[in-house]
Amino acid sequence: SDYDLLVVGSANADLVTRVERRPGAGETVLGSDLAVHPGGKGANQAVAAARLGARTALLARVGDDGHGRLLLESQRAAGVAVDGVLVGGAPTGVALITVDPSGDNSIVVSPGANARLTPADVRGAAPLFRAARVVSAQLEIPLATVVETVRALAPGSRLVLNPSPPAALPAEVTAVCDPLIVNEHEARFLLGGAAGDEPGAWARGLFALGPRSVVITLGSAGALVAEGPSAPVVPVPSPRVTAVDTTGAGDAFTAALAWRLSLGERLVTAAAYAVRVGAAAVTRRGAQDSYPTPDELPAG
Ligand code: RIB
Ligand code: NA
Repeated sequence: SDYDLLVVGSANADLVTRVERRPGAGETVLGSDLAVHPGGKGANQAVAAARLGARTALLARVGDDGHGRLLLESQRAAGVAVDGVLVGGAPTGVALITVDPSGDNSIVVSPGANARLTPADVRGAAPLFRAARVVSAQLEIPLATVVETVRALAPGSRLVLNPSPPAALPAEVTAVCDPLIVNEHEARFLLGGAAGDEPGAWARGLFALGPRSVVITLGSAGALVAEGPSAPVVPVPSPRVTAVDTTGAGDAFTAALAWRLSLGERLVTAAAYAVRVGAAAVTRRGAQDSYPTPDELPAG
């Protein structure tokens, strides 16, 4: 294949302020100077994988504006193939992000051009699908576009899906996820009221949706991995690091995992690599701007 990884997803300009605490309803707080970083779950994954050495392509849509140029520049600098990055139709997506002193974030995304990435755009990118071993998607683009992504998968290629932000998924999508990657919020959403508080049980519950394999990310506690419905749920601990900004760490984890799968690694082995990449990403500010090269990874 020409590419280890094709990422189909969003590209956002991240407008970030650091705050002492988040405002409640009707409240105003003062934050830090504004930082503008390249972000978006799809664009983040593509940069994270490329920086690790993956041959990576991105299918996304940005606006014909300064934010779009910032995103294209970040992709190119990381070595991502950007012939699948379409330009125009709406302004570039924007993520409004607050980061608190513990490094945790909350995010509102205004999708902009991401909402105009269509099923027809996926069909138009058929050569990229034929050229990629692993395809990775998230949910900051229309669900119909994710469905078309599943239909566009070349024989023998593998889908990695992070359903973020969470939404109800058609069985046609969940059935091919290998793995379905969720954090606590996404697991609880997909499991509904009966989730309970035991992450190991979430993994088993998620198999009822039909994925081939499941990964649950647990932040500083690492991840849980189940290689199949009757396989054990294996804990994969994360190296200990000091968190500065967790924005996009999950995207770095997913990208690293998807790339290692494309090399033929087992899911548990790939996850053990990916937690090191996620841990490195939380030690620096921003999403893409924080992603490590292989020599910057903490020991496993
Ligand atoms: O996952 C982190 C990303 O979510 C940010 O970069 C922001 O753009 C939102 O898409
Ligand atoms: Na970061």
